[in-house]
Amino acid sequence: MAADRINLGAVTELEQTQIQCVEQQGEQYVLIHQQGEFFLLDNHCPHKAAALCEGELSNHEIQCPWHKAKFDIRTGRGLSPLAGKGVNSWPLTVEDGQLFADMTAAI
Ligand code: FES
Repeated sequence: MAADRINLGAVTELEQTQIQCVEQQGEQYVLIHQQGEFFLLDNHCPHKAAALCEGELSNHEIQCPWHKAKFDIRTGRGLSPLAGKGVNSWPLTVEDGQLFADMTAAI
């Protein structure tokens, strides 16, 4: 059974990278660090399943590397037609310097 809560690692390490691919329990996610905040989204673009962790960040948007669908990094919401309804976004908390994702409730 998948864990309800995932430890993504130490904040001091994770904040070194703006966009990173994360694999946990056989699922892939994109972890974004921007201006002191973290965001975790499902990694596969709903259009043709490109990895969003290879996309580009602009303000609060991440753009799919293949056909440029755009998603709001704060909610996962699709911002362009190819993005459809978007992707799941997962709430994050910091405890004792570690970043945790709550996998029970997508935003
Ligand atoms: S695979 Fe993402 S826009 Fe086509």
